[in-house]
Amino acid sequence: MNRPVVYVGMSADLVHPGHINVIRQAAEIGDITIGLLTDAAIASYKRLPHMTYEQRRAVIESLKGVIAVVPQHTLDYTENLQAVRPDYVVHGDDWQTGVQKHTRQRVIEVLSQWGGQLVEVPYTTGISSTQLNHSVKEIGTTPNLRLSRLRRLLESKDIVRILEAHNGLTGLIIENSKVEVDNQSREFDGMWSSSLTDSIARGKPDTEAVDVTSRLQTVNELFEVTTKPLVFDGDTGGKPEHFGFTVRSLERLGVSAVIVEDKEGLKRNSLFGTAFPQEQSTVEDFCERIRVGKRAQITDDFMVIARIESLILEKGMDDAVRRAEAYVGAGADGIMIHSRRSDPAEIFDFCKHFDKLSRRVPLVVVPTSYSSVHERALAGAGVNMVIYANHIMRAVYPQMIRVAQSILRHGRAHEAEPMLASIKEALSIIPENVA
Ligand code: SPV
Ligand code: MG
Repeated sequence: MNRPVVYVGMSADLVHPGHINVIRQAAEIGDITIGLLTDAAIASYKRLPHMTYEQRRAVIESLKGVIAVVPQHTLDYTENLQAVRPDYVVHGDDWQTGVQKHTRQRVIEVLSQWGGQLVEVPYTTGISSTQLNHSVKEIGTTPNLRLSRLRRLLESKDIVRILEAHNGLTGLIIENSKVEVDNQSREFDGMWSSSLTDSIARGKPDTEAVDVTSRLQTVNELFEVTTKPLVFDGDTGGKPEHFGFTVRSLERLGVSAVIVEDKEGLKRNSLFGTAFPQEQSTVEDFCERIRVGKRAQITDDFMVIARIESLILEKGMDDAVRRAEAYVGAGADGIMIHSRRSDPAEIFDFCKHFDKLSRRVPLVVVPTSYSSVHERALAGAGVNMVIYANHIMRAVYPQMIRVAQSILRHGRAHEAEPMLASIKEALSIIPENVA
């Protein structure tokens, strides 16, 4: 006699006794088909899993009672349920409230179309994926794992969200900041090591005056206390002959990508626009710089992203598009298009042209001057990564000045207290400080 078909949807990232309990009980009812959530399905509502889809599949398909594993491309079960038409869906009873409440309701409705039933297994207490995720973060990561994560994020998410960090503390803010929006957990996907803020933090101008060795020190400091991937602002890449060494150093540390810009000579920050004379590289010279970077890298996952300054330097849209095509042809793994306009019109215009190019690579934008644009609109236009390039630095600076002036004015610190974190708060920034 054919055994009943049982469908179990899961992420199976950090498999623990709770999962095994669900599978054991499902196996008693019938033959199990696992609907294994894809990276994209998981990233649509929480952080990307630690293991890739293939790794998770290898684990789950070898569990007793599992007959088949099929990809589940969305959090919603409908499509797979209609294809598999199971007699039962088995799930832990923890989804009756919270993020998955509506998903559960849909499962019940769809199953009822052919008389299928939902069976709920009491939630296993004492262990959870949230706890395990926490422990994994405490253990940390390796350079290779961190490095490869950016490509996985780009493949799985509508838009990858990156925020500037310039020391361990700001790295921790990116690592741990989390909000719930519409029942979904939202966090930053990674860090931007900005030449502007790394220079400002050292009291230096953004002219490549801070040498690569010092910039790498900041990266090291960030990597000591975080697990998320990092995109490195490589400025002009320095002397073309030196750029290959920079790529090697970044890759060895576990940096995921370098963004190198098509400018020559003494570089000034792009947001100055044409206030300082700035020379743009010739297409040929810059393509060679990209090739030097690509030749130097050892892993397949490291990305050399080419940054186009045509719109910043008022060279026009045609020039920007022509360069995008050439840079991708030279091997660039992504394109960053920069703008200093206060509205995103020229970025959207670029996106339309970019989509028509013969080869599509990830597109990166930095909405500093056009900050009213929403990530949703950027993603809709085809942008794959958004970098908030200087915001943590710009947040702390005005407050530091106010506090310094207040102490001077009043001859004591008392008046500045409302502007300050309490000592207790300051201590608890770093968990190890708290007894
Ligand atoms: C940086 O953050 O250093 C950048 C982006 O390069 S921008 O400041 O907008 O040029
Ligand atoms: Mg910079």
